[in-house]
Amino acid sequence: MAPILDIKNLRKSYAGGFEALKGVSLQIEQGEIIALLGPNGAGKTTLISTVCGITSATSGQIKVGGHDINTDFRAARRMIGLVPQEVALEPFETVINTVKFSQGLFGKKRDIGAIEKILKQLSLFDKRNNQLKELSGGMKRRVLIAKALAHEPRVLFLDEPTAGVDVELRKDMWDIVADLKADGVTIILTTHYIEEAEAIADRVGIIANGELLLVEDKTKLMAQMGKKQLEVQLTAPLSAIPDGLVSYDLTLGPSGDALIYTYDTNAERTGITQLLNDVAKAGLSLRDVVTRQSSLEDIFVTLVKEDAA
Ligand SMILES: Nc1ncnc2c1ncn2[C@@H]1O[C@H](COP(=O)(O)OP(=O)(O)O)[C@@H](O)[C@H]1O
Ligand SMILES: [Mg+2]
Repeated sequence: MAPILDIKNLRKSYAGGFEALKGVSLQIEQGEIIALLGPNGAGKTTLISTVCGITSATSGQIKVGGHDINTDFRAARRMIGLVPQEVALEPFETVINTVKFSQGLFGKKRDIGAIEKILKQLSLFDKRNNQLKELSGGMKRRVLIAKALAHEPRVLFLDEPTAGVDVELRKDMWDIVADLKADGVTIILTTHYIEEAEAIADRVGIIANGELLLVEDKTKLMAQMGKKQLEVQLTAPLSAIPDGLVSYDLTLGPSGDALIYTYDTNAERTGITQLLNDVAKAGLSLRDVVTRQSSLEDIFVTLVKEDAA
């Protein structure tokens, strides 16, 4: 199946010559949730703005549902919903009117049923006649999503949907994203929260300094790049690593009663069997053995550091 979003070698230089995107290519399949993870200034908003036609590309090609955003902009744009990073709403407008207005923007016929369904899905129905200034920050975010969904887009961009929101609302956002995915909507979200990518994305793209450093299935990424740690818990604390184990590059846990061994899951030999033999030879007695997978955070930090070096 052709990708629903196809970005090829996208470059964007701002006036003044700063190159915010340095040749980004990305294909997204219908129905997936992809998280673009990157530090501030990485180029996430620029990427989204270019796809949505808010700013123009310097070079490269973008197709949405097969429609080129240059030669077939209206058809491409009609497929896209955008939830911007900044909350900007008309304070005296009511919830329902602002969503109705958005529905009309891309040539969609007025469909009150569709609007009511969206408002219900976002728990805004009871507030539909309230003015926007009467809503909490969290509800305003929901209104932004309702506006983005009003013309029933197939591809939804969420630019840092949970930046600065409280934990509860963040969880609500994640549920909303899962619901939309179930409806077949393709979702591209940007975030600098690693746990967010870890929690909801099917695929993760890591972006830094205008470059997409990698795009990978989330679980594969974590398995492939992850280091694992083996923690050998001891029945009695040690004050130092025993002589017989110094060749292993072990660290002693904070209270001295655990030996921590870091190994590469892809290595042909992890060294675990030998280590455990030598632990026994050193006369140590084990209470338990625990393994831990390194998190997406470790992977992210390593990659972004390598890129900056
Ligand atoms: N309108 C603009 N003019 C010049 N530089 C810009 C403009 N918008 C963004 N930039 C620069 O482009 C880079 C990427 O910005 P942005 O896409 O907003 O990053 P992110 O969303 O990942 O934080 C930053 O260095 C930013 O300062
Ligand atoms: Mg941004």
